[in-house]
Amino acid sequence: MVVARDYISFSKVREKLKGSVGFVPTMGALHEGHLSLIRRAKEENDYVIVSIFVNPTQFLEGEDLDKYPKKEEADKKICQLAGVDLLYLPTVEQIYEEDELLISAPKIRGYILEGAKRPGHFDGMLQVVMKLLNITQANRAYFGKKDAQQLLLIEQMVRNYFMNIEIVPCEIVRDSDGLALSSRNVYLSSSERKRALSISRSLKRGVKLVQSGEYRVDVIKEAMKSILEKDVDCLDYIAIVNREFKLLKDIEEGNTIVLIAAWVGDTRLIDNLWL
Ligand code: PAF
Repeated sequence: MVVARDYISFSKVREKLKGSVGFVPTMGALHEGHLSLIRRAKEENDYVIVSIFVNPTQFLEGEDLDKYPKKEEADKKICQLAGVDLLYLPTVEQIYEEDELLISAPKIRGYILEGAKRPGHFDGMLQVVMKLLNITQANRAYFGKKDAQQLLLIEQMVRNYFMNIEIVPCEIVRDSDGLALSSRNVYLSSSERKRALSISRSLKRGVKLVQSGEYRVDVIKEAMKSILEKDVDCLDYIAIVNREFKLLKDIEEGNTIVLIAAWVGDTRLIDNLWL
């Protein structure tokens, strides 16, 4: 595995990769969820590139940019063992300059739910993903469904800017107790972790209701809320949307995403299920 920290040395190695390239962009603190993306990229491509870059422009003032977990040595080992060919670890100065040309998230889809709670987050996320896709010139890029709104916005960016890359959505990876894997789970104390399990429990309850024939969104949301209320410290939202991220009144089978964002202690967690 080659590790490149700047664009010039990255490009020299990239030029030599003749064949299909799969790309997994990350912010590091790699876990089994990232590994599942890397494994899929390996299965489907001749070469795999991973980037680790904690992107400052997608963090809002007061968010966890400074304390975001950094585990460079462990991450390198994980990538090496997983058979990654090229690991890109750029600095902020390598990626950004002053007075940049900016990419904006769409005004509706980019500013509801996560975008409403974190205004500007998706502008910064799209900005860096556009750069990373251009730098890596991959054939396919792999993103987890856990960040559902992120995934759909990246797909839209690729469509709207006629970018020549396939975006591959990948399933959410959960611990055996149901908690969706996230680099932020390390912030949870053991008692907070137990309470955080109400999030996946609540999602499962929602799905059960749909399976039993309940399609009314307000009824499903009430049932889900009653599970969360006791355990989470603040519920940012329960939302039921279609794949265009339009809020639904009734479940559209095969076209629905049920999403939760909630605080447990000082940690904000998101999770969802696709129906
Ligand atoms: O999902 C993430 O880890 C980040 O948002 C991404 C896609 C690597 C962009 O910084």
